[in-house]
Amino acid sequence: MKHYNVGIIGATGMVGQRFATLLENHPWFTVTVLAASPRSKGKTYEEAAGSRWAMTTPMPESMKKMVLMDATADIKEIASKVDFVFCAVDMKKDEIKALEEAYAKAECPVVSNNSAHRFTDDVPMVVPEINPEHIEIIKAQRERLGTKKGFIAVKSNCSIQSYVPALEPLRKFGITKVLACTYQAISGAGKTFETWPEMVDNLIPYIGGEEEKSEQEPLKVWGRIEGNKIVKASAPAITTQCLRVPVSNGHTAAVFVSFEKKPSKEEILKCWKEFSGVPQELELPHAPKQFLNYFEENDRPQAKLDRDLEGGMAVSIGRLREDTQYDYKFVCLSHNTLRGAAGGAVLLAELLAAKGYFD
Ligand SMILES: NC(=O)c1ccc[n+]([C@@H]2O[C@H](COP(=O)([O-])OP(=O)(O)OC[C@H]3O[C@@H](n4cnc5c(N)ncnc54)[C@H](OP(=O)(O)O)[C@@H]3O)[C@@H](O)[C@H]2O)c1
Repeated sequence: MKHYNVGIIGATGMVGQRFATLLENHPWFTVTVLAASPRSKGKTYEEAAGSRWAMTTPMPESMKKMVLMDATADIKEIASKVDFVFCAVDMKKDEIKALEEAYAKAECPVVSNNSAHRFTDDVPMVVPEINPEHIEIIKAQRERLGTKKGFIAVKSNCSIQSYVPALEPLRKFGITKVLACTYQAISGAGKTFETWPEMVDNLIPYIGGEEEKSEQEPLKVWGRIEGNKIVKASAPAITTQCLRVPVSNGHTAAVFVSFEKKPSKEEILKCWKEFSGVPQELELPHAPKQFLNYFEENDRPQAKLDRDLEGGMAVSIGRLREDTQYDYKFVCLSHNTLRGAAGGAVLLAELLAAKGYFD
């Protein structure tokens, strides 16, 4: 496989730090640029992010002395040094939209964690096991942007990464409606218990914008390419409630689902066990061998015990049983900053690399 030089835009943040640790020994990608806000420009990575390092593994030695660039002012220089960038910045939505388009127009592909472009018609929002074919819309996006190489591809919100994978192999039974309550970790807000002490022994029943994302994003992921846009699926009907809970990492979802043709419990378990996608077929470096993992124990999955399954890239499911109002209910869990953020973006970049989109 060819090697690619990559940049991390937003390297000092929570997701940026995850990118740094995931890319430290990556077989295909080498980090050659770190960038963040003008506040960090000119500082070494150690100076800029050392005191707020939130990962359990240390800052990569190879990056400690790298000098941070300004994500906005240095776009041309950054684009000249890398084959593509990962982007995870905390800025206003319209600023992020403009920033990502500026990179794409500088012929630097962007693999983004940000939500700004998730509903741009010709930007693919990809969970690589579910809708890898959506990357084919990039041709139309390049035509719109007037680029040869530059484009934007995004991953979906961390909240949907727990329940949409579990629903995917059940779509053949005709999913009619879904109710999902998510219990989301504080790292999803870029926080730790040190930086957000109010979350100790607490629960906050509101995460700005999260319920809309959790209801709408699955429909784009399950949508189809028509001409130069991705058209959202019209079903199933999805309703959600999203709560912030005192967990460091790992988003849990309690899911209720009904079908046109109600499957048996055994059929559902078989679908989960046998499900695998293009990342597994291509043996992409960050693809979990077993994507969906069912636990028979009544008290699983648990965030602390199960979030790191397969390097935090697998989804854990448990407690499948019939319901009185819906056909079935179950619980699922995924690591929000690994599968749900940086890890999901790295897997998407591996898919794009394997399909030649960075060449
Ligand atoms: N945390 C998660 O689980 C998660 C999951 C999915 C998606 N996301 C998304 O990923 C993005 C980053 O989240 P996060 O949790 O990593 O946030 P964070 O920890 O607050 O980090 C924000 C990053 O953005 C940079 N930044 C802020 N203002 C900037 C500017 N004007 N120009 C360039 N860079 C700027 C910061 O640089 P300085 O250090 O220089 O200020 C820092 O590197 C957000 O859009 C978030 O919604 C997060």
